[in-house]
Amino acid sequence: MSESRGAGVFTTKSVAQLKHEAEKGELRRVLGPLNLTALGIGAIIGAGIFVLTGQAAAQYAGPAIVLSFVLAGIACAFAGLCYAEFASMIPVAGSAYTYAYITMGELFAWIIGWDLILEYSLGAATVAVGWSGYVVSFLRDLGIVIPPQLTAPAGTQVTLADGSTITGLFNVPATSVILAVTALLIIGIRESAGTNAAVVLIKVAVILLFIAFGASYVRPENWSPLIPENTGTFGQYGWSGMLRGAGVIFFAYIGFDAVSTAAQEARNPQKDMPIGILGSLVVCTVLYIAVAAVLTGIVHYSKLLVPDPIAVGIDATGLLWLRPLVKLGAIAGLSSVILVLLLGQPRIFFSMARDGLLPTVFGKIHPRFRTPYVTTAVTGLVVATVAGLFPIGVLGELVSIGTLLAFVMVSIGVLVLRRTAPELERPFRTPGTPWTPLLAALFCLYLMLGLPLPTWMRLLVWLAIGMVIYFFYGRTNARRVRAAAGRAAPVTQA
Ligand code: ALA
Repeated sequence: MSESRGAGVFTTKSVAQLKHEAEKGELRRVLGPLNLTALGIGAIIGAGIFVLTGQAAAQYAGPAIVLSFVLAGIACAFAGLCYAEFASMIPVAGSAYTYAYITMGELFAWIIGWDLILEYSLGAATVAVGWSGYVVSFLRDLGIVIPPQLTAPAGTQVTLADGSTITGLFNVPATSVILAVTALLIIGIRESAGTNAAVVLIKVAVILLFIAFGASYVRPENWSPLIPENTGTFGQYGWSGMLRGAGVIFFAYIGFDAVSTAAQEARNPQKDMPIGILGSLVVCTVLYIAVAAVLTGIVHYSKLLVPDPIAVGIDATGLLWLRPLVKLGAIAGLSSVILVLLLGQPRIFFSMARDGLLPTVFGKIHPRFRTPYVTTAVTGLVVATVAGLFPIGVLGELVSIGTLLAFVMVSIGVLVLRRTAPELERPFRTPGTPWTPLLAALFCLYLMLGLPLPTWMRLLVWLAIGMVIYFFYGRTNARRVRAAAGRAAPVTQA
């Protein structure tokens, strides 16, 4: 049997071919179930809970942000079950990009790969901006003040404590953290995963401290009314505000799918990928709902439109010894999110380069470190620049909508592959099909509908740019790569 099926933009790959590619073994298989769950938690708990929760409560949902977390959590649980089926069945690098290639063909794979840049690269930039906010605030507590022009995105107006206003030039801390993490990732996955596990322990501990100590300072009147009355504008409180809040804090859940991008580096992917994806999702959902309830119970939601809402919550309790701990935990937590997102992106590019949709140089593996160093370096430089220039709100909403779109396509992909290739071995089967994948797609679409119109426009522009690149470069180059591979190394069907 030939290694690719279909023709032109609908060319698909067989699972056997993907396994063959994986068995070439250029990436090291070093990650076990605990590493993978830690990788998931490392990617999930970050700017979403530490920064966006307060902003979404203040601007959109009020105390109903707790319900927003429940809604987004349900969407992610359904989507997670779909990801788990694919990740256990197709243990190769590339995540949703690879799944789309098998189920829907090259064009859809390209669209999803292009869309995932929003999730991973823009996601890393968003979190780096959140990181910068907590670092600046922590250093200020120590008496070290970085000039505000160098900690704000280009062109934004910042009002200082004395009432004067300055214009931001570049967010230097955000750029620096991206460059540092990029260097770590080039050195190797083993070191990176170890660092990640330690950081995950710290941030989970800090969140548990916040919940445990904060709970006794909750004033139930802050939760009333649970769903503040809508102002008359869609998305400003009321049910629509709760929905918009869910779309925004959906960002907080992004990351469990990053586990799947490390499938090619997992020791026993069939068993361990579902554990990593679902385990990390469950832990984070429980923590988020508790943090959101405690935070909006301690402080009235109207006071949470700040870069460091959890720290504001601590201030309100008077437990000042917790303040530096929480800030350090947030800084560590956000660092590990950046690490996992920047770990995932080059591996998706790596898979796309293998298929000819991106230049071959992106598929190069470092001879000594065995990491995709070219893509890692290019990704790091671009993301560092974006992180220096743009504000967190714009970035975060675009990340959410792009990721939701990817989830919709993956969920539909499960149904497509069940029909087109029912015979394939599925070590983990999404329970309740077709309902679970259908509900996953519907919930994700529903969350997308809650997001503002400008975010939709940005998504469409991004996808249009992607189409131009595909039709002027990717399509022909991929055809050339397929032809060359066909001559050089015929693949036997497993
Ligand atoms: N879920 C990740 C975060 O909240 C992306 O930072």
